[in-house]
Amino acid sequence: MKIFTRTELAETERRKRANLINSLSGYKPANLIGTISGSGVHNLAIFTSVVHIGADPPLLGFVMRPIRDAPRHTYQNIKSNGYFTINHVHESFADNAHFTSAKFADDESEFDHCGLTPEFLSGFTAPFVAESKVKMGLRLVEEIPVTSNDTILMIGEIEILSIPEFAQMDDGSLDLNVVNDVCVSGLDTYHAVSKIMSLPYAKRDNLPSLEK
Ligand SMILES: Cc1cc2nc3c(=O)[nH]c(=O)nc-3n(C[C@H](O)[C@H](O)[C@H](O)COP(=O)(O)O)c2cc1C
Repeated sequence: MKIFTRTELAETERRKRANLINSLSGYKPANLIGTISGSGVHNLAIFTSVVHIGADPPLLGFVMRPIRDAPRHTYQNIKSNGYFTINHVHESFADNAHFTSAKFADDESEFDHCGLTPEFLSGFTAPFVAESKVKMGLRLVEEIPVTSNDTILMIGEIEILSIPEFAQMDDGSLDLNVVNDVCVSGLDTYHAVSKIMSLPYAKRDNLPSLEK
């Protein structure tokens, strides 16, 4: 076992420390965020920080890295028109999705460079990813600055949702296995996921035997 104190973490070589810290939140979801610029360029970027904020109203958030470091097209586009899409990443195009994180110029589209197809649904402003089976269109409702590291929590309300009927289970939830969703560890490793079990709602007075 290795224990890192705060000082030892700080003294770890920069790249190694970043890789270690980036793995600590565990497996993360892989999503592509689609936006459109004021001049109509379709933008796409991979984000692993998408998080459920609440079901009613239906809200999802994601963490935007500091915008001082580099121009962030996703951020600029959302600020200019208020809309974005979140598209799940499946095994069949995880490599295409990964390379959307490369830096492209304002007038270049990651859709073209990374072999993915923009799709427009129900007149929604921002582009969806045609290859993705689970996709939603959101309107920015809140932007929360995280002052401890200059990141921003961007929160959107789902305005449109597209899912395959076969992936919805009787209780309403989505079966992420049948659409082959992937998850990510660190910033560069993609994993297939297999379901272990579904459990009943946990109640204090109805616990099964949990002895190991
Ligand atoms: C696996 C992976 C996960 C990423 N997750 C995030 C994230 O959650 N937030 C973020 O701001 N950038 C994230 N990035 C970096 C963006 O994808 C990258 O900065 C991208 O170039 C932004 O594109 P844009 O300038 O078109 O917005 C991630 C990159 C990779 C490879």
